[in-house]
Amino acid sequence: MSRTVDVALADRSYPIHIGPGMLARAGELLKPLARGALPVVTDAHVAEIHLAALLDSLGKAGLDAHPIVLAAGEGTKSFAGLEQISRELLRSGVDRSGLIVALGGGVIGDLTGFAAGIMKRGISFAQIPTTLLAQVDSSVGGKTAINTPEGKNLVGLFHQPRIVIADTDVLSTLPKRELLAGYAEVAKYGALGDANFFNWLEANGAKAIDGDSEARVYAVAHSCRMKADIVARDERETGDRALLNLGHTFGHALEAATGFSDRLLHGEGVAIGMVMAFRLSVQLGLCDGQDAERFARHLQACGLPSSIGDIPGVRPSADELVGHMAHDKKVKDGKLTFILLRGIGQAFVTNDVPLDAVKAVLSA
Ligand code: NAD
Ligand code: GLY
Repeated sequence: MSRTVDVALADRSYPIHIGPGMLARAGELLKPLARGALPVVTDAHVAEIHLAALLDSLGKAGLDAHPIVLAAGEGTKSFAGLEQISRELLRSGVDRSGLIVALGGGVIGDLTGFAAGIMKRGISFAQIPTTLLAQVDSSVGGKTAINTPEGKNLVGLFHQPRIVIADTDVLSTLPKRELLAGYAEVAKYGALGDANFFNWLEANGAKAIDGDSEARVYAVAHSCRMKADIVARDERETGDRALLNLGHTFGHALEAATGFSDRLLHGEGVAIGMVMAFRLSVQLGLCDGQDAERFARHLQACGLPSSIGDIPGVRPSADELVGHMAHDKKVKDGKLTFILLRGIGQAFVTNDVPLDAVKAVLSA
């Protein structure tokens, strides 16, 4: 039942192996890429649940694994976390021709990829994503970064992994809220470029969320295929790759206004942000209101938040949110970049959006 999706980037192309039971196959898949000491970076939660299975597979393949366990949570994606991982990688004895493995969600993947990219001027790395968000988004495409007090993901580099191994079985230990936050990114692919996939999600998304293995593999593989196609066309985000930011200008502002706290997970912000992007598109006469409402209904049916009112606590004002948007990486020449929609599956990039229309959506 497993599938392989290729990310076509000439001599830096790599496979994404997706399916149940993949952790047990990791040793065999990593063996051709590993040389000498093999650091395996993970976080404390994931270490407790899944590290032993991975080490067992690596051991059976005769690989010399060195676990590095970091604290779980976004705080680890910091200069302090980078210093810790860099020094532990140096002490692990990994060679410039070696491989570094990231086992975890987007935090571990982003941090490890960044550290691998700067360690000894660049060491190869492998992604073994363990959250749905990481399997369908952050482990693919080579964006790596840490956060600073000035903002999220502002310090980093492009460093493509050599291989991605997504074991859909590990998603069964993910808290439901984290799973749903990752599902928002799955729904994003339907909204941004594939109405048929969105139809499939309306019919089968609940099955994938509830743990149906075939539905999960299909949802992850299709999402990865869509991301791989976009990354192959526009690795450095000079054009189409920005489509992957659907909902993110709104979502990041909501995350900032809620202090990047437990009040709103990244994927939840993206869910609300995508609905806002649809509503902004309707307001500008670009999109049929029925598509916007259909998309919002699907997120609601899955149990995701779809409006500002769904965020617990004090509602952030439109002015505050616009202020946060002005600090976003997606500001170019003083203009905000938005991904808008002409309908489900028809997203496009624009920086020609009147601020009043944005404020109206944020106040609704
Ligand atoms: P995360 O890595 O913090 O994981 C969420 C929580 O789930 C953590 O507590 C983790 O320990 C736990 N966890 C992970 N796998 C588990 C499992 N199988 N079972 C039980 N618990 C598990 O968060 P995330 O949502 O995976 O990633 C968010 C990060 O990804 C953010 O920093 C964001 O900026 C980044 N991101 C990067 C890209 C990219 O292209 N590089 C894209 C999207 C998001
Ligand atoms: N997550 C957006 C990107 O990879 O470009």
